[in-house]
Amino acid sequence: MTRLKKSIEYHKSALKSIPLGVNSNFRYWGPEDTLYISHGKGTYIWDVDENRYIDYRLGWGPIILGHSDDRVDEAVYTAMRRGQTFAFSNTLEQQVAEKIVQMCPGVDKVRFANSGTEATMHALRLARAYTGREKFIMFEGQYHGLHDYVMFSTNVGEGDGYNSNRRSPVIFPMSSGIPHQIQELVLILPFNDLENLERVVKQSGHELAAILVEPILGNAGGITPAKDWLSTIRKVCDQYGIVMIMDEIKTGFRIAKGGAQEYYGVKGDLATYAKALGNGYPVAAFGGKKEIMDQVGQGVAHGGTFTANHVSMGAANATLDILMNTDALAIIEKQGQKLQEAIAGVLKSAGLPCSFSGHPAMFMFWLADKAPKEYREWIEMDHDIYNNVTFEMFKRGVMPEPDSREPWFLCASLSDEDIAKTATVLEDSLKVVLAKNNARK
Ligand SMILES: Cc1ncc(COP(=O)(O)O)c(C=O)c1O
Repeated sequence: MTRLKKSIEYHKSALKSIPLGVNSNFRYWGPEDTLYISHGKGTYIWDVDENRYIDYRLGWGPIILGHSDDRVDEAVYTAMRRGQTFAFSNTLEQQVAEKIVQMCPGVDKVRFANSGTEATMHALRLARAYTGREKFIMFEGQYHGLHDYVMFSTNVGEGDGYNSNRRSPVIFPMSSGIPHQIQELVLILPFNDLENLERVVKQSGHELAAILVEPILGNAGGITPAKDWLSTIRKVCDQYGIVMIMDEIKTGFRIAKGGAQEYYGVKGDLATYAKALGNGYPVAAFGGKKEIMDQVGQGVAHGGTFTANHVSMGAANATLDILMNTDALAIIEKQGQKLQEAIAGVLKSAGLPCSFSGHPAMFMFWLADKAPKEYREWIEMDHDIYNNVTFEMFKRGVMPEPDSREPWFLCASLSDEDIAKTATVLEDSLKVVLAKNNARK
């Protein structure tokens, strides 16, 4: 009998009313492995077959304290009992906004949204309105959600070994249904390539509304910014009057109380937040310099029926309270370091090279002496062992994403015992995969 019997049944039945049986294409793992979750608590989730997993996906990042944190849930119940959404402002939103302003360097004012997609869409619109320009730069390996303007990628030869020229990468839409006309508005450059960036900005800086950057490539293995990368973006933005948008949707309220802007000491003009802001409840925000944010409402549209609703604000208020006033993030960082040491130990015993990218709260390990510095290097790497090992781990109750583009996320509930179990499961999984590989030779 299969371990995922009920999930398979759910999936078959869900196919009748939901395309692919899931509500995000990324949740589809094929007919045999698409999981349905019954509940989560702390660092664990349980599927409908009652298999328990140590969860390192954490909803792709939002769970910062632990699944279903009692303190956050209590605040949500309290807020919810007083109503959900009013077509008026509520009394919690100012409290949440003040906390964000206090915690995040570079954020003077903030507006809320419901998802990261919405937050990057609004930030981009605001940058365009403020500068009166339309084009923007983003970088290879980044992801900013599903609105049309950011759904472009470059041809960096996934699978066919063909890399488009790094000085002028070939851009393509990431989905059918995206208008080709807006492709002219985006330039995508290799991450961490300072010279190339400076050259392009010198050529087209006066046409650029924004440079949209993920400070750590949270959608490409947590690739770490090179020394001077973020400060160079800051410098060219200042030189050419371009709005620097830090997409902190994965790094915000995770790698430091003030996110990447605090951690790396570089302030954007605007920043976007979501994920850890509500410990799993749907809430997002965009904020930044007063003079830019004050354009909102001065001819720049922003709103939404559910924006800053009472329930999300209850969640964000409690989550930020905890992050601000406890050492939750320091604990996560410490546990992340311990987990990295445990992983490095297992790989060393197996005679494999090991390196890390990202931050201990969202990192990737590489079966290589050096972590990739940009997405093109990720493409060139062999990911078979990693993908197979993580899939074996999933079968044994430890759940990182079986794709090294998605970092390992940690929450404050991860215990030393969980780390020890993760190391044992990694060791067992590695043995299975290496034995299979050797048998094939
Ligand atoms: C950096 C970044 N920006 C934006 C988004 C989009 O957020 P959402 O999925 O909430 O729309 C994501 C989602 O993973 C992200 O990682």
